[in-house]
Amino acid sequence: MDKMPYAEPYKIKMVEAIKSTSKEERIEAIKQAGYNLFNLRSEDVLVDLITDSGTGAMSDKQWSAMMLGDEAYAGSRSFFKMKDTIKSILGFDFVLPTHQGRAAENVLFSALVKEGDIVPGNSHFDTTKGHIEFRKATCIDCTIDEAFDPTLIHPFKGNANIEKLEETIKKYKNNIPFVIMTVTCNNGGGQPVSLKNLKAVRAVCDKYDLPLFFDSARFAENAYFIKKREEGYADKTIKEIVAEMFVLADGMTMSSKKDAIVNIGGFIAMRSEDLYKKCSVFNIMFEGYLTYGGMAGRDMAALAQGLDENTEFPYLDARISQVEYLGKRLKEEGIPVMEPFGGHAIYIDALRFLPHIPQVHFPAQVLGIELYIEAGVRGVEIGTVLADRDPVTREERPPKTELLRLAIPRRVYTNNHMEVIVWGLKKVWERRKELKGLELDYEAPIMRHFTATFKRK
Ligand code: F0G
Repeated sequence: MDKMPYAEPYKIKMVEAIKSTSKEERIEAIKQAGYNLFNLRSEDVLVDLITDSGTGAMSDKQWSAMMLGDEAYAGSRSFFKMKDTIKSILGFDFVLPTHQGRAAENVLFSALVKEGDIVPGNSHFDTTKGHIEFRKATCIDCTIDEAFDPTLIHPFKGNANIEKLEETIKKYKNNIPFVIMTVTCNNGGGQPVSLKNLKAVRAVCDKYDLPLFFDSARFAENAYFIKKREEGYADKTIKEIVAEMFVLADGMTMSSKKDAIVNIGGFIAMRSEDLYKKCSVFNIMFEGYLTYGGMAGRDMAALAQGLDENTEFPYLDARISQVEYLGKRLKEEGIPVMEPFGGHAIYIDALRFLPHIPQVHFPAQVLGIELYIEAGVRGVEIGTVLADRDPVTREERPPKTELLRLAIPRRVYTNNHMEVIVWGLKKVWERRKELKGLELDYEAPIMRHFTATFKRK
């Protein structure tokens, strides 16, 4: 009781108005959108939780860094500022800027992945999987089984099952270009990986002489959970923990739109000069010259500043406490949420919310539509739509968990906004038994979730 309540370690200097709509307007808007939340105009959304990617609020220091951006095509000062920050926080010598995370994947995988390859990891993110499958290679998910039970409490549900990883490597040894660990694990529910597990993965990679990469979009949030949950790290700074994590990796792909709090940007960082040279060819082809890679100089300047700010404990504590606040409030109201709560998002368990709708009729998508209609809150489906069809058989492949993700943008909303979300979900919960499933009307051959349209059953 004596503990001082937490508060955001910043105050608000600029605001952006958001519009309220009526329920009737929202029913019409979502119908026009083909029941795909991606097709809505953001103007028609009150609280936008479709992603925490590129939606954060930059600080005054980031905005002033933008004014100092060097827009030189080659050798930009802002590139070197970014490179030096990456070296000091993450420890890598070689850096290639890219316009966002999936671009980093595209460049790195162009250099490393070929047809028939197997890429083991912990629940690969959909763009990672997309870029691997696009090259006719296969992802093998070695996440621990505990991760797939949304009610089971485990401090590190992003962990890899080391035995499964080793078996996979033994089986496909000659076809494995690298192992990839996603920190935190987004598709697994924003769940962290422990340092102990990362070290064990490294040891297996060493045993079989395989490179290890981190998909690092939310690496700082992962470090926060290590500090809070793993024995021996409570007194370490976030930057110390980050250093201990990344010393284990040969390289990383980064979507800076998350844990560097910029609206656009990404990079690949690595230790090997040889790999850097291979990737450089593809970076120049797909992204841009080596010292800008699809970003403006000012974006690289803001990225460097954001990386530094986002690896400080007080900021992370406020950010993750807000996500936790939402999770606790939903739980209090009896809404089935995935636990432990994620770092960047709360995941609603659609299988428990709408048990009468089979996965092939997209219950998490139904939930997303209804929450929007009720309260103007936009989440995103992390379920059967996102999982997409099997690339070979073209059959649906419902995943083990069917979730509606409510991703919280960084430094953007207050806890009053969180209360609107709780209110909306309570309303949907009250009429859950009346809700029906969906059928696909249109789908693209790959990454269908962005553009698919649906019919209500
Ligand atoms: N890896 C992870 C773990 C991600 O969450 C994302 C993006 C990417 C890679 C790709 O990065 O968007 O910059 O190209 N996640 C966003 C999300 C889209 O909403 O979770 P990107």
